[in-house]
Amino acid sequence: MIIAGNWKMHTDLVEGASLVAEVIERTESLALDADLVLCPPFTHLTVAATQLSGSSISLGAQHMHDAPEGAYTGEVSARMLLTSGCGYVILGHSERRTYFNESNTSVNGKVRSAISAGLTPIVCVGETLEDREAGRTEEVVGEQVRAGLSDADPGTADGLVLAYEPVWAIGTGRVATPDQADQVHGHLRKVIADMFGDAFAGRIRIQYGGSVKPENAGALMARPHIDGALVGGASLDASSFEAIVRAGLGINGG
Ligand code: PGA
Repeated sequence: MIIAGNWKMHTDLVEGASLVAEVIERTESLALDADLVLCPPFTHLTVAATQLSGSSISLGAQHMHDAPEGAYTGEVSARMLLTSGCGYVILGHSERRTYFNESNTSVNGKVRSAISAGLTPIVCVGETLEDREAGRTEEVVGEQVRAGLSDADPGTADGLVLAYEPVWAIGTGRVATPDQADQVHGHLRKVIADMFGDAFAGRIRIQYGGSVKPENAGALMARPHIDGALVGGASLDASSFEAIVRAGLGINGG
């Protein structure tokens, strides 16, 4: 089970530091049973890393460039993230694909560069509403995985995380049903089995993302192919994030 909070472009440094502190207080003991990852904005990483050191909660970034260094104003590299305390990086998020023109090819470069630097990529895939209504969901996400992970060598299944995030469910309050999500996750596992073998596919963690809330998290993560959640809006509230982690672990109350 791996549950990550994608803060996107929210919180200033002071608000971010208090959110990290509250998340630590509420979820530290739960982090022994699930991998928990916080992905704040770049500017917060080193402060968050200091706060999280000594806890079992990991740090991730939301994006990176694929080059190791160079004249790319405004960008950061895998090594910069690693040396700022990150263990994970979200890659290919649909907001990056939509607003910053990321393609399966550019995502692939980033995935390979993250892995070779020692970061664990959380690779996001998902179909638009138009794709779903045209019956193209499996084809679209399958291609995103095949192209995005082409020639990537994560070593073991722990070195890679997939996140299925239907574009129509992100930030919309409209969540995929557990059946819909589990079906796509099962398909993704088959694509991974073709690429990396059955043992790897059996172990790789596939998160669901898109309007995950305390009320729907338990039913989603109870499904056999759903191994965690990538949480946007609800991760900005420490008590909601805690409730999602508890729901994922099947623990009630707080
Ligand atoms: P949301 O975002 O939970 O706010 O829908 C999820 C994501 O974009 O990772």
